[in-house]
Amino acid sequence: MIALGIDIGGSGIKGALVDTKKGEMITDRLRIPTPKPAKPKAVIKVLKRIVDHFEYSGPIGVGIPAIVINGVTHSAANIDDKWIGYSSQQAMAEATGCPVTLANDADVAGVAVMRFGAGKGKQGTVMIFTLGTGIGSAVFVDGRLVPNTELGHLYLRNQKNDAENYAAERIREEKNLSWKQWGQRLNTYFQHIEFLFSPELIIIGGGVSKKHEEFLHYIKIRAEIVPAELRNEAGIVGAAVLAAESV
Ligand code: BGC
Repeated sequence: MIALGIDIGGSGIKGALVDTKKGEMITDRLRIPTPKPAKPKAVIKVLKRIVDHFEYSGPIGVGIPAIVINGVTHSAANIDDKWIGYSSQQAMAEATGCPVTLANDADVAGVAVMRFGAGKGKQGTVMIFTLGTGIGSAVFVDGRLVPNTELGHLYLRNQKNDAENYAAERIREEKNLSWKQWGQRLNTYFQHIEFLFSPELIIIGGGVSKKHEEFLHYIKIRAEIVPAELRNEAGIVGAAVLAAESV
């Protein structure tokens, strides 16, 4: 079926119509800068603009950088604290007049990668990490998602801050790190992840994964580590897939 997928990010809110069987966007992606501050009302207004732009009515899937349980957001990293404890899914449905399926952005991207990308058919513990403004994580065991893992917020030894404030793509840009310097930070992070979870496979997503040849070789772990290999944006595609499945 066709569904609208929307990805709420720290810097942009992106949406497109998706063929959920093929896992492909069938329209260009519309990107609108994330309002600052990214309070629920302002962000939901942008969602409505995206729906109007596509003249769409039907199920909508939305990924958001927050813990999401039964449609309620329970954390807010890189978005406004007003999201904490907010009935976000219901508010989005009311504003757009469409049924909305809301989930964590990394979980949503993980669904697309497991279905159409490097995770297709993979059994055992598969972990997907999105490197962007933060570090998002999605953990699958024999193809089943363990939701809301939030592994970007691990603390690393000798770091007084969340791992994502040490190793996210945003930090590479802000601190002007070389690929090697950033790769070494990722190495510290993923060695710790491997020690804790012993996954069979780690998949790296986020825009920077297109440049994987620059940094993946600095990550020295037992597990196989590969880029997400999705032609389309995983966040948008995965959100649309979840929406289609909830109908
Ligand atoms: C948030 C996660 C999100 C990740 C990637 C983190 O800061 O806590 O919910 O998945 O960023 O956007």
